[in-house]
Parts: sequence; structure tokens; C-alpha cells
Amino acid sequence: MSRSHTPRRAARAPQSKICVIGAGYVGIPTAGVLASRGHDVVLAERDDYRFEELEKGNLPIVEPGLQELIDEGRIAERIHFVRSAVEGVQDCDFVFLCVPTPQGDDGAADLSYVKEASLEIGPHLAPGCVVINKSTVPVGTADLVARAIGRTDISVVSNPEFLREGTAVADSLHPDRIVVGSNDAHAASAVAELFAGMGGAMVLTDPTTAETIKYASNAFLATKISFVNAMAALCEAVGADIKDLVLGLGFDKRIGFEFLSPGPGWGGSCFPKDTAALVHIGKEHGYEFSLLQGAIDCNVEQIERVTAKIATMAGDLKGATIGVWGVTFKAETDDRRSSPAIAIVRKLVDAGARVRVYDPTLSERDRDAEDLAGVEITSDPFEAARDAKVVALLTEWQMFRWLDHAQVSEVMEVPAIVDARNLLDPDSMKRHGFRYMGIGRS
Ligand code: UGA
Repeated sequence: MSRSHTPRRAARAPQSKICVIGAGYVGIPTAGVLASRGHDVVLAERDDYRFEELEKGNLPIVEPGLQELIDEGRIAERIHFVRSAVEGVQDCDFVFLCVPTPQGDDGAADLSYVKEASLEIGPHLAPGCVVINKSTVPVGTADLVARAIGRTDISVVSNPEFLREGTAVADSLHPDRIVVGSNDAHAASAVAELFAGMGGAMVLTDPTTAETIKYASNAFLATKISFVNAMAALCEAVGADIKDLVLGLGFDKRIGFEFLSPGPGWGGSCFPKDTAALVHIGKEHGYEFSLLQGAIDCNVEQIERVTAKIATMAGDLKGATIGVWGVTFKAETDDRRSSPAIAIVRKLVDAGARVRVYDPTLSERDRDAEDLAGVEITSDPFEAARDAKVVALLTEWQMFRWLDHAQVSEVMEVPAIVDARNLLDPDSMKRHGFRYMGIGRS
């Protein structure tokens, strides 16, 4: 899906020279949005594949509308790419840290990329430069970055990112709120000025609170999804219908509809990592966050529940062919990090099933991917369904809704579907001869 962009007017704020370190799902949209506001942006990426793709004019990730935004910046000569962060930060007024903070073995966020980048750029920053933490980082990281940079003329500001993959461009151009955490009023207002007039509310606070707001937002949304997944399980037990239940809940303005869709569990690079990190932060500071731990446990159960549905439909997984539709952690992205679909695929393979997957983002590059080891990658959803005992719809790509399901039923060994996103109409599937299982409805 692509969206067209009309060139945006330059920001009213004075043009600044900005380096964004890390060309990932946060760094590229951040660079694009800052360039669209008239700033001169250097995007630093040391990974060869990502850097070369950007240099060629391609994007190393799938994100609707982002190619157009970056092309616009490139044509206007407001975005440049460099390999080295040291080169990128030369003469910059602002440096955005958008490097990964993966989950460490103990549940804590691994800050080695943040530390490494801070140590590396410290001596090369222009006097008075403001360094901004956009990566999701534990409480106290603004201080850690300031110590690693080791300079009294440099302020570190926390400015957490709230964009979602798949809608990153719209989220970045039209934020609900912008959170700026700093103990230096001058640096805070300079950062606030970069985003002024974008329409979102501005929340100015200290760095510790800003860092905690980011975790609180993701933990709240993850808990909301776990709640609806638990309600779906209850609906199955009592014979209620989750779709109607969500309507009854969501029209209450205090609850709302967002993040109330049941599914195979929440995944991605953020919710699993950030919920684990927040529980860890709580423990470190003497607080047992049992509510959040409950939401995490519920998410683990959800993945098992969906796998059990597939096993029930198949009768026996050993030797059974299972077609899987969708492996990314949600639609409109190519990201498979902590994807519930992948967790389910791994369980199916371990149980001895022959798994055939289709996902519109898979390509030749994925044939050797570790997370898809022992899995057959097919080039269309019908091929994935061929001779299958069950098709499991795990990612909500809209294309699965519009397939010729009668034709799907013909290529399967027996027409049976587990619709883990409640994307399909159960009555219509049954009319096509399918046995159908959704989430929280029959
Ligand atoms: C999430 C947050 O929504 C962003 O605000 C935040 O900036 C980002 O993490 C981050 O910390 O960087 P993202 O991981 O891109 O964004 O994806 P979401 O749209 O939040 O979805 C997360 C997971 O929840 C997915 O697996 C999705 O399928 C699942 N989900 C979402 C549901 O199962 N039901 C819903 O109703 C909504």
C-alpha cells in the first residue's frame, strides 16, 4: 500500500542540522519527518545492507508511505546517508539516538548500542549540541548517556517515540503528544521547537518521567490486548461472542475501540521487550508489578491457545500439513521480531507438522532465515493451503479476506481454518465447506 505525499512546507522553526543515528523502524521515519520540516538531516547507519539500500534509493524496511517521504527529502537535498555516526554528528545542533535496545537475558533492556554510540560520538559533538534519546530506554538512561558523552556543554533530552510500525509516517506527522524530558529548560524548549505546530499536545517533564511514560504507554496497551484475549477465552467458555462484546465495550468512550482486537497475542520489537523491562525495573526498585506480569503470562497462554486450536483441527500435528497465512507480527510491516505467528510456527514444526507459509513480505532473502528453518515458503496463499489439513490465518493482511475461499477449500486436504485474527466471516467460510475456529467466537 502506498500513500502519496504533497511536498510539505518548511517548518517555521529555524533550520537546524540534525543527525539521526540508526536507520531502523524509528530512525528512518524520524529522519523523514525532520527533513519534511525543513531541517538538514544526516542519517547514520553502519549496517552494510541497510546503508547500501538507502544509498541506492531503496528502503531496507517495509513501511507504507515512507519511501515517498524519504524520496521527498532526498530530492530536496535535505537527507543524506553516512555509515559513520562520528562523521554524521559533525557540526550538528541535534543528534537523535534511534539505535536498538534489544531484550537482555534477564528481561532488562540491553543498552550496549546506546552506550557504544554515546561513547563514540562524545568527543565529536559540536559545542552546545543537544543529544536526544528516542530509543526506548530504562529509567536513568539519559544520565547514562550524559556520562558516556562526558561533556558539560552537551545536554541529553529524553523524547520517546510513540509511532507504530505500519502507520509510522502518519503517526510521526500527526502525533497525539510529544513528550520531552529534560532538566535543562533551554535544551527542552529547543527540542520542543523542532516539533512545534505538529498538532500533538506537548508534555514537558523530567527525563525519568519521560522514560517511564514510554514504558507505561506500551504496558497499558499490551495489558488492554491481554484483557480482550482473556475475555475471548471466557466468551468461548460461556458461549458468548467476542465481536459483539467488543462493540458493547468500545462504545463506552472511557474504554474506546483501539487495541481491543483479539488475536494470537501481542508481539513485535516493543511490547514483549518493554513489558519485560518494566517488570524488571519494578523488581530492581522493590516493586512487584504483578498486574503487568499477569498480562505477559496471558500473552504466553494466548500463543498456546491458538496452537492448541490448530492441533485440535488437525487431529494429530505429527506429519500433518499446515498452511500458515501471515508470519509478520502484524500487517503492513515485514517485521517478524517476537512475532506470535513465528512462535506458533515453531511449535507446529516442533510437533512434527509440515508447515507451508505464505506472507506478502517474504522474499528469496528469507529462505535461509533462522526463524523459518524447516518451513516451506510459498509464493501465494493457495500454494500454502495446498494439501493442508488446516490453514492458520495468523497475521491480519487484508488480502486474506478477499481470496476465493471456495478455491482454497478445493486445494486443501480437508477445508478447516483457524482464524486467529477474526478476519473472516465464519458463516461464509462454513458455506464454503470449512470447519471454522476464530478467537472468542464460533
Ligand atoms: C507499539 C506501540 O503501539 C507504539 O505506540 C510504540 O511507539 C511502539 O510499540 C514502540 O515502542 O516503538 P508496534 O510495536 O509498532 O507499536 O505495534 P502495535 O500496533 O502496537 O501492535 C503490537 C502488537 O499488538 C502486535 O502484535 C499486534 O498484532 C497486537 N495487537 C494490537 C493486537 O493483538 N490487538 C490490537 O487490538 C492491537
